[in-house]
Amino acid sequence: MTKESRRVLVTGATRGMGLEIARAFARAGERVVLNGREEATLEAHCAALRGEGFAAEALAADLSVDPEAVALRAGESLGGLDVVVHAASLRDRRRTEELDGAAFASLLDVNLTASYRLARAALPLLQRSQAGRLVFITSIAARIARAPDPAYTASKGGLEALTRSLAVEFGADNLTVNAIAPGWFVTDPNRALSEDPQVQSFVNVRIPLKRWGRPEELAPAALFLASPSASFVNGITLTVDGGMSAQM
Ligand SMILES: NC(=O)c1ccc[n+]([C@@H]2O[C@H](COP(=O)([O-])OP(=O)(O)OC[C@H]3O[C@@H](n4cnc5c(N)ncnc54)[C@H](OP(=O)(O)O)[C@@H]3O)[C@@H](O)[C@H]2O)c1
Repeated sequence: MTKESRRVLVTGATRGMGLEIARAFARAGERVVLNGREEATLEAHCAALRGEGFAAEALAADLSVDPEAVALRAGESLGGLDVVVHAASLRDRRRTEELDGAAFASLLDVNLTASYRLARAALPLLQRSQAGRLVFITSIAARIARAPDPAYTASKGGLEALTRSLAVEFGADNLTVNAIAPGWFVTDPNRALSEDPQVQSFVNVRIPLKRWGRPEELAPAALFLASPSASFVNGITLTVDGGMSAQM
């Protein structure tokens, strides 16, 4: 018997970890909608996946404008939703003295409020699934801070707390809500840092595996949390950081 493919929305899928997560779901035989803002980039990734024989479609939309529409349009196009992995996020590493209240609020608007609004629109669809799965991508920054990074750190702490809150509220609906907290991964925002020898000396001391993570090393965590094997895993944050946050 062939397994029925699940209907999956992945945000932040134009690049980096969101893209690798979307590819992993598509290559596992699921039907995937990729969201980001850059339409041409999304279309190119989807065309490549379809060329490999997998099901992928692009949904270009800005989550800071209408996050509800992203969940609803993905649900319409897939005929429902079984899995949402929300990886999109922004970063602003300005110091507190330079980051005024408006800039702080605007980052929280994308990283935290839009996450809530996307989830709130997706949850009724996930409740109709046989096994709904919502996975937020947070960060080890939710628990250990690197200065300066006040807005991002606060947004990821809030998202981790939101994960627990939604897990507790919706667990009875055969629906799980979990988070993945990545450590240091080589993606566009930190590619230059990852090539800096001084930073590598820091990595050698701070990360027990003595290297950065690769985006494809995060995707299996999302596949696991969305899988039937994780049916009793709810409200957790799965840390994937090479041991960085385990070390004093
Ligand atoms: N890389 C790391 O070391 C690291 C560490 C800890 C946590 N994380 C978390 O892991 C996730 C992925 O990180 P990454 O490094 O792969 O990110 P990235 O390369 O910076 O990509 C960010 C993604 O978010 C999308 N995005 C941003 N703002 C958006 C908006 N307003 N509407 C729609 N899409 C938007 C971007 O789409 P467009 O480009 O199309 O706008 C892009 O696809 C993020 O949640 C990040 O906080 C990363």
